[in-house]
Amino acid sequence: MLRHEQAVETANKSINQAKEEVSLNHWRLTYHVSSPAYWVNDPNGFSFYNGEYHLFYQHHPFSAEWGPMHWGHAKSKDLTSWEHLPVALAPSEEYDKDGCFSGSAIEKDGKLYLMYTGHKWTGDNHDTDLEQVQCLAVSEDGVNFEKLSNNPVITNAPVGDIHPNHIRDPKVWKHGEYYYCVIGNKTKDEVGQVLIYRSLDLLEWEFLNIAAKGEGNFGFMWECPDIFHLDGHDVLMMSPQGMEPENYLYHNLHQSGYVLGQLDYESGKLGHGSFYLLDYGFDFYAPQSTIDDQGRRVMVAWMAMWESEMPEQEYNWAGAMTLPRQLIIEDGQIISKPLPEVEKLRNDLTQYEDVLLEGKQELEGVLGDCLELDVTIDAKDASQFGLKLRVSEEQDEETVVSYDRAEGFLTLDRNKSGKGLDGIRKAPVELKDNQLQLRIFMDKSSIEIFVNGGEKVMTSRIYPRESSTGIEFFAEGAVSITSLRKWSLVNSTEKTR
Ligand code: FRU
Repeated sequence: MLRHEQAVETANKSINQAKEEVSLNHWRLTYHVSSPAYWVNDPNGFSFYNGEYHLFYQHHPFSAEWGPMHWGHAKSKDLTSWEHLPVALAPSEEYDKDGCFSGSAIEKDGKLYLMYTGHKWTGDNHDTDLEQVQCLAVSEDGVNFEKLSNNPVITNAPVGDIHPNHIRDPKVWKHGEYYYCVIGNKTKDEVGQVLIYRSLDLLEWEFLNIAAKGEGNFGFMWECPDIFHLDGHDVLMMSPQGMEPENYLYHNLHQSGYVLGQLDYESGKLGHGSFYLLDYGFDFYAPQSTIDDQGRRVMVAWMAMWESEMPEQEYNWAGAMTLPRQLIIEDGQIISKPLPEVEKLRNDLTQYEDVLLEGKQELEGVLGDCLELDVTIDAKDASQFGLKLRVSEEQDEETVVSYDRAEGFLTLDRNKSGKGLDGIRKAPVELKDNQLQLRIFMDKSSIEIFVNGGEKVMTSRIYPRESSTGIEFFAEGAVSITSLRKWSLVNSTEKTR
């Protein structure tokens, strides 16, 4: 057996041994992708291949902590029900001996290629003692992957102000006759930037340019870049590490967002505008996108943050993916929307219209921990209003979503959410015709709030007790719940191979 096959088999064994016990944990997510057991970070290789969506992820299959990175793998026909597949990549060669780091996928001649970063430690200092090269693996069946003998396909960093060691996370796409890839990097004195390369065959790569580079408060390293064309713009999506908090912005350890511009494919330079966040919650990092057979640009991200407390680690798992979101551009900004396919999970509709609300109120049938809530609230002349989720009977647990009209901010407060980290996050939100529309997805230990049709999104993990399932509306002054629809979400089809 090849070394790589052996390493994959060892990883699969480890997962299989742990998964049954892990599945019993009440925080396990039911319609979000996570590994059957152990650690997960960035989405990788998100692609549409042979009529199915493939989603890989950074994965440590031997513990619930980050470790030598493998690629976990799941696939889906509808981005809603996922089937777990065997581990796709495991460290096995000299050039990736300490990890198969993040990367992407592309179809060529009917085969699925993965382009990833081979990672090696060269000493004890994890900031400086590392070597990163770019590699390829290929599959004919979309399940079993073989590393190419040409690996690594990109080795030495180009000359110039390019840090030679931190060079990772290739995202590959085709434009005209060339394949292009964008790679995360920083300058020698710690300014985030991305590099662009091109190739005719995926094997021989030519460095084109530094496509974009940070200025001002824009992080010391840009990870997980992604470039794609959307509604007349070239989008660079990336994850800058270490931006300083500014006002209500950038309070997570690292950020993920985008700039809109135009990429000059000859020079490899991207002219672009300002940076915007893709999500205003606590747990959203390293988003990656793909395009499907309907021409939809779909994005998924890691629903966690580096160095966060992850209470599920106690139960031998950690981390998950966000809901896949369709990206569109409206008025010069990206809007993120849940895909219509998620509606397949809907069960047991509870509905209300024109409910006048003053003070506090619960609504019969509106409760739970795995649900979709679509609510439009007319703010009337209230100064503040919102709702509390995952409320316990003892009132010691609650996750609060509140709108402050004078401030113009929606706030997500997880100070009393249960275990794990606390704090608040804010997103600037304007009422539309004096109304606020929220579409909220909850899944056992996660919450995703799509505001006003996806103009803003707030994503977070929360770790309440299983019995904390109450929902309570509140208003200072009077508001009217113009419409409310709540469904339990039931996923009956998750399978493991
Ligand atoms: C981003 C990241 C990537 C790297 C991977 C390692 O979260 O740090 O830059 O490839 O995670 O797991």
